[in-house]
Amino acid sequence: METTLTIIKPDSVAAGNAGKIIAHLEAEGFRVLALRRLHMNEAQAGTFYEVHKARPFYGELVSFMTSGPCIPIALERDNAVKHLRDVMGATNPEDAADGTIRKLYATNIERNAIHGSDSQENAAIETAFFFARVDQLG
Ligand code: CMP
Repeated sequence: METTLTIIKPDSVAAGNAGKIIAHLEAEGFRVLALRRLHMNEAQAGTFYEVHKARPFYGELVSFMTSGPCIPIALERDNAVKHLRDVMGATNPEDAADGTIRKLYATNIERNAIHGSDSQENAAIETAFFFARVDQLG
């Protein structure tokens, strides 16, 4: 079993798509290990996306991610990191395959419905960012 981290982003929460996205993930065999809802502040969102700090879209990304509540979820499944990336679809919904979460629910490259960890190493870092160790051992 492998774990990964998704964030149901503020666009999806505001549109009332959180439940549909969680159902989609469960139908794909993911098990919810830990889940919370939080409205991130600038320090929180800025730190989570620190790796993108030099990118031109960083300021807008932080502003979007602090625009409303999001729902980070620790997920478990065989091959979880890769499978979440497949189910999530390309960063830009215009490039995302039919039936992927971003194709179904994203608005554009920034308001792209969900986040998914890109490696097992980052999955561990990102899960630890949102959840206490006790949640990960549940
Ligand atoms: P995510 O997978 O959460 O990782 C970084 C985020 O930055 C990405 O999803 C998008 O929300 C955003 N992003 C990536 N590329 C761009 C871009 N070219 N313009 C605006 N936002 C972007």
